[in-house]
Amino acid sequence: MSTHRILTGITTPGSPHLGNYVGAIRPAIAASQREDAQSFFFLADYHALVKCDDPERVRRSTLEIAASWLACGLDPERVYFYRQSDIPEIPELTWILACSAGKGLLNRAHAYKAAVDANGVAGEDPDAGISVGLFSDPVLMAADILAFNATSVPVGRDQVQHIEMARDMAARFNHHYGELFVLPQAQVDEHVATLPGLDGRKMSKSYDNTIGLWLTERDLKSAIARIVTDSRAPGEAKDTQGSALFELYRAFASPEETAAMAEAYAGGIAWGEAKQRLFERIDSELRPMRERYYQLVSKPGEIEEILRFGGRKARALAIALVADVRMAVGIAPLFNVRWEKAKAAKSDRDSQPRFVSFRDDSGFRFKLLDGDGTLVLESVAFADPKACGQAVGVLKKLAVAGAAPAQRPGSDGGFELLGDDGATVARGSDPARLAAVMEQLTLLAA
Ligand code: TRP
Repeated sequence: MSTHRILTGITTPGSPHLGNYVGAIRPAIAASQREDAQSFFFLADYHALVKCDDPERVRRSTLEIAASWLACGLDPERVYFYRQSDIPEIPELTWILACSAGKGLLNRAHAYKAAVDANGVAGEDPDAGISVGLFSDPVLMAADILAFNATSVPVGRDQVQHIEMARDMAARFNHHYGELFVLPQAQVDEHVATLPGLDGRKMSKSYDNTIGLWLTERDLKSAIARIVTDSRAPGEAKDTQGSALFELYRAFASPEETAAMAEAYAGGIAWGEAKQRLFERIDSELRPMRERYYQLVSKPGEIEEILRFGGRKARALAIALVADVRMAVGIAPLFNVRWEKAKAAKSDRDSQPRFVSFRDDSGFRFKLLDGDGTLVLESVAFADPKACGQAVGVLKKLAVAGAAPAQRPGSDGGFELLGDDGATVARGSDPARLAAVMEQLTLLAA
């Protein structure tokens, strides 16, 4: 399995525009179809709280953005598509990282500095209107990335500093506690088109020159009619250089279609006619997606299901990693770990507890032996070695996560441990032995 993990957080509040589609959504979905990478896409709703205190807007925007990405062809079976707030390990990791991240590092964050500077200019207190959330937002972002050990994070230039901060935090943690985190790399795509807006400047909400991605056909047509052109008359040759209309066309057309449009410019096409062609080109790409989009937003329950499905998939990964992180910093279950013993076991591999699998007349079984080789737990008989191995895997995984296996009293007054499916995987006749089993599992995880 590939270990290349691409992770993207989506915050764009409100409904996306053509610039978001061409610059971010379309290339990201194309990249997610590659075979050699796993893609993670999430709706960064905890980040949204930093900028927005209107609950209705936060919810609405989660719905619209999720519907947009799905309508554009994101395949939730293939990628990890989830909502940040469905992964409680992310805020958990945020705190742990915050405890080793330097405050000075965060002081240098562009967004925070800009807010402080703006206060200075306005003659306000430097802290005016700045929340702790805004200040520590880069830590949350680092946790988004590190919780999945993402290797590569496609971002715009403005976000590169945040990825570097995530690297810093990961490196500092690794240095002190051990190599748990992969250092992520920012991936800035120089080739991605920045689309011009209606007025020819970069299409951006802050310039109020955008064309919405989900405009109705009629509204799309009238938006295109407002694209600024020069005053050359029909029949006069037109310049493709610096023509927003031409750039927009190129972003949606094949190279052949683009060449044909360039010829039409040279041949003096009327602006009205060029706009009609642009409308038809864009509309034919967007129409099927637009239909899906409006279907999706009208069924929020289905989107909720898709997000929960993705959340469960993604969370399984985050749980395993954050369990290691907790263990590394000392947030670990106590049961009855004897500290000296745990340390000794760590330094001497031979004296660690271990699982041993074997086969006898009744089938496949495993045993748990303590560091001295004394039997602590014996499994039931499994029909095949795979089931036996799986049962061991479940016990180990739970031990690493610091969780106890499901259990129930046995019919003989002893205890039974249960596997993933609720079936008994091991029995002990003496309930007092259960504590010893837990102790050995904890030692094993350490
Ligand atoms: N802060 C990013 C932005 O404003 C969004 C984001 C949040 C993000 N968490 C992330 C992007 C993790 C990449 C990786 O655009």
